[in-house]
Amino acid sequence: MKQETTRIAPDQVAAQLEFCRKIHALNETRPQSRLALVDTYGCQQNEADSERIRGYLAQMGYGFTQNEDEAGVIVLNTCAIRAHAEDRVLGNVGALVHVKRRRPDQILCLCGCMAQEDHVAEKIRRSYRHVDLVFGPHALWRFPELLWRVMSRRGRVFDHSEEPGSIAEGIPVVRQGGVKAWVSIMYGCNNFCSYCIVPYVRGRERSREPEAVLDEIRALAAAGYRDITLLGQNVNSYGRDLDGGMDFAGLLRAANEIPGEFLLRFMTSHPKDASQALFETMARCEKVAPVFHLPFQAGSTRVLAAMNRRYTREGYLDKVRALRAQIPDVVLTSDVIVGFPGETAGEFEETMSLIEEVRFDALFTFIYSPRKGTPAAELPDPMDRAEKLAEFQRLVAVQDKISEEKHAAYIGRTVRCLVDGADEKGLTARTPGNRLVRLAGDESLIGRFVPVTITGANKWSLFGEAAQ
Ligand code: SAH
Ligand code: SF4
Ligand code: F3S
Repeated sequence: MKQETTRIAPDQVAAQLEFCRKIHALNETRPQSRLALVDTYGCQQNEADSERIRGYLAQMGYGFTQNEDEAGVIVLNTCAIRAHAEDRVLGNVGALVHVKRRRPDQILCLCGCMAQEDHVAEKIRRSYRHVDLVFGPHALWRFPELLWRVMSRRGRVFDHSEEPGSIAEGIPVVRQGGVKAWVSIMYGCNNFCSYCIVPYVRGRERSREPEAVLDEIRALAAAGYRDITLLGQNVNSYGRDLDGGMDFAGLLRAANEIPGEFLLRFMTSHPKDASQALFETMARCEKVAPVFHLPFQAGSTRVLAAMNRRYTREGYLDKVRALRAQIPDVVLTSDVIVGFPGETAGEFEETMSLIEEVRFDALFTFIYSPRKGTPAAELPDPMDRAEKLAEFQRLVAVQDKISEEKHAAYIGRTVRCLVDGADEKGLTARTPGNRLVRLAGDESLIGRFVPVTITGANKWSLFGEAAQ
């Protein structure tokens, strides 16, 4: 069913830029710090949102700092996916009260997925009175206006009303990723997996117009970005809400045509929508990296049904076979949840056997965390935390061994890698499948694709030498 997406009119975004200019002018008259600190929690979608917040802040004349004592504005862009993520944020917000005592003029903003939850916003209102501005992902496009209200009136502002979700184009961006860039192609999620908070805080699925996405990729390629990741909670349903018939495979084909030397990646794919057409498109498009993140969440068909995932164990394994038939050396990664309410010991063994059968290159493992307002949070959950932790550790140990074996198989091979940065241990690079490679070499190689001979490996990374 098609839903109407609210597209924010260009003059409304222009009005936000006008608020940026007003803040800029106001700051000219005041002694306050012109530095901002933006701290991001959570997934790549949040990283991409923070780049837009930085874009707005730069328009207001702010530079950036990591030092909270120096900052005139602090923005915490938060994540609500698990209790641990929320606890970390609340701990940091609590600690910032001391900074605010030293710097009463500092403005503290809390945004992102946690801020969209009413019960969190209420808690901030009551117990964290040093927080000046709270706004959810729906209100991000009007951040300048909200900040202006705080600054001009010195009152607290809360904007976390529930909305189906909108799309705003033309928000300025300050990118952080060096030669890597994120491009959101869609927002929100319609899947309502029974454990997951995302559809409640990010609204309904909505796609950006293909021209807007392709223009952004074109500009990134022209500016020298080498590794471009298309983002959405479920990229495989891209375009379903658009007129014109462009689907995700079509978008990838069009992006692949854009001139330039760059790789295209995407995440995340929902197994129910990952199609044969997509696998064939990937195999045919030379810019699309041979890597696929396909979360399976659980190995038992009964648990998958309770999770509302809408595929079975066999259905998942069929998708993996179909993908590998198209791209035999595809790097396959996944997410899994341990300790879903009511999962039995036997059902957990099905998760273990699926891992052994598929042999993922890497796995992101999570212990189930009840999220207020989701159906799974109402289910009886008799298993205690210690038992879940024991299962979790068993699973991680098995996967570590698989990851290590998969990495060891690279030794002796020469792989074309993108050198993407440097740290105290030397250069870092990525294989086309996004495996981390460490190598010695000159920083002038950053941003270049170079053949690297792999000489060593452990479970986290590969070690190599630039081949001559
Ligand atoms: N849209 C993506 C995932 C986004 S959240 C997808 O559908 O695959 C990233 C991962 O966090 C999920 O894949 C899931 O494994 C995990 N996760 C989500 N909610 C969780 C919860 N309540 N407890 C534990 N892990 C959770
Ligand atoms: Fe959450 Fe499921 Fe949507 Fe992923 S697909 S964001 S796990 S509801
Ligand atoms: Fe977290 Fe929101 Fe992403 S809940 S995982 S930041 S969509």
